[in-house]
Amino acid sequence: MPADAPRCFALLPCAGSGSRAGTAQPKQYHPVAGQPLVRHTLAAFAKVPRIARVLVVVAPGDERLDDVEAPIEVAPCGGATRAESVLNGLTHLRASGAAAHDWVLVHDAARCLVTPAQIEALIDACQADAVGGLLALPLADTLKAAAADGRVDATLARADKWLAQTPQMFRLGALRDALAAHAAQGFAGITDEASAIEATGQRPLLVRGSAQNFKVTYPEDFALAEAILGSRGA
Ligand code: CTP
Ligand code: MG
Repeated sequence: MPADAPRCFALLPCAGSGSRAGTAQPKQYHPVAGQPLVRHTLAAFAKVPRIARVLVVVAPGDERLDDVEAPIEVAPCGGATRAESVLNGLTHLRASGAAAHDWVLVHDAARCLVTPAQIEALIDACQADAVGGLLALPLADTLKAAAADGRVDATLARADKWLAQTPQMFRLGALRDALAAHAAQGFAGITDEASAIEATGQRPLLVRGSAQNFKVTYPEDFALAEAILGSRGA
């Protein structure tokens, strides 16, 4: 590999409070299949040899992952929003040796069902692409628009609709610039990395993911995550 060939880094935002999950501690630390949820996420990334470093962005003062070993590292630079946590993590990566043209795969710590094969598939699809892309899933259900009274306003065409997942893979410098452009507006409208890249006029690649790669969000999601991990013999 040439000395300046782009490397792949992973950045896992892990600094949220998990307010919708109803757990006593932040959801990413709630036990699932015998381990704090995020440890399953980390195990998947640690099994991808092409990823040089995995940076976990935790809240300031959070010492729960202080025992991790290379290629996993922890930076206590989490922010008030997911976008801010990601931007801070990208800044940390740049300050600690990552180049602007290196790739970064941003992945929600709370998506603990991601598999090494899905991560590899995203890298395979994006590493020769000019922009980068994201795992996503074509919408399976009929899509309704709701009115304020809780009734259906319209049935929307779903053929071209996808649900965005993570990881999302972009050039580190381009993603950092794209996110930084929205910091002053509190990252309004920036709900994932791709939306920041889209705002620069670029069109990220949609790479088909799996319904199992869902984000643990609500109380009932923990049992489903546990069942899936159990079915894999984890
Ligand atoms: N996240 C983060 N920093 C924040 C908010 C979120 O690093 N200020 C992380 C979460 O830890 C999670 C990922 O971003 O791994 C996706 O966010 P989400 O599922 O919304 O988690 P929370 O914001 O913690 O949950 P909620 O929205 O229910 O409060
Ligand atoms: Mg949130």
